[in-house]
Amino acid sequence: MGDNLSDLSNSAIQEINECSSSNDLESIRVKYLGKKGTVTAALKSLSEIDPRDRPAHGKRINEIKTLIQEKLSERKASIQKQEINQNIENKMIDVSLPGRVNFQGHRHPVTKTLLEIEEIFYGAGFVVEDGPEIEDEYHNFTALNIPHNHPARAMHDTFYFNSEYLLRTHTSPIQIRSMEKDGVPIRVIAPGKVYRRDSDITHTPMFHQIEGLVIDKGINFSHLKGILHQFINTFFEENTDVRFRPSYFPFTEPSAEVDILSKDNKWLEILGCGMVHPKVLENLGINTEIYSGYAFGMGVERLAMLKYGIKDIRSFYENDLNFLNQF
Ligand code: FA5
Ligand code: MG
Repeated sequence: MGDNLSDLSNSAIQEINECSSSNDLESIRVKYLGKKGTVTAALKSLSEIDPRDRPAHGKRINEIKTLIQEKLSERKASIQKQEINQNIENKMIDVSLPGRVNFQGHRHPVTKTLLEIEEIFYGAGFVVEDGPEIEDEYHNFTALNIPHNHPARAMHDTFYFNSEYLLRTHTSPIQIRSMEKDGVPIRVIAPGKVYRRDSDITHTPMFHQIEGLVIDKGINFSHLKGILHQFINTFFEENTDVRFRPSYFPFTEPSAEVDILSKDNKWLEILGCGMVHPKVLENLGINTEIYSGYAFGMGVERLAMLKYGIKDIRSFYENDLNFLNQF
């Protein structure tokens, strides 16, 4: 019996020492100390042995039980420590690895410029109007005093859908639509995409304009010059060489175009403008004895070119990230 108990104790300790996981250790505990475990069974069978031997035998079993318990908890602690270390090692962050880059998008330079321009005109009390990109020839031309067969229609290299519908060639039809809707007095800007069959270093087939329209009592050309100078000074934030050049539009009289001196000393046209032609207003039933006003239409890409020193307008639409990421 004594030998049996020693064997039991030795094999338990050996198993414990060789065990390397918490789960296996628990199985060993159950095997020896559990309800049906060998040590438990030995204690239960005490009643079967000679009563004189019982106390010594019982003491011996209890000693073995305590020893196994101690060994189990020692081993448990060291296995847990090992497992924690292994966990840390597996999940360790290698600080020498290159970081993961988040590619963050940003607004297109033309959108940025457009919003900047809008902001300046909000500050001057303008509200924003909108109009369709597919326009009818009445709003794009006729209502703007450009009748059929007028040579000015040839100045706009128009994309036609059919004899009635076209891609608007400028934002000026929104002048008509806004006055049809709200009448006068009126003080609006109208940004949007416009289309022309045109492509070179200062022209793209799609580009953006911002139209401006102010109709009220007593509006004259000095108001127009004033607002445009104010806009240009705010937009360029530095002294800019500006040139008002007489021009011609069927829907304004007098008419002008405005040029800005670029960083490489070339004049670049940014807008057309003028006093709204009385015929345009009369067409809409507006009394020109009382009301007069001005209008302008500026090229957003041209303003962005001047601001950022861009030589070829087409770079805006080549989707070259090396170009776009500069903004
Ligand atoms: C017009 O489009 C007139 N509607 C402007 C206007 C409005 C005059 C109100 C009077 C009253 P123009 O064709 O010049 O005008 O174009 C205006 C501006 O758009 C030009 O000064 C230029 O800055 C820009 N622009 C014209 N064509 C292109 C193009 N193909 N690509 C990029 N920008 C252009
Ligand atoms: Mg022009």
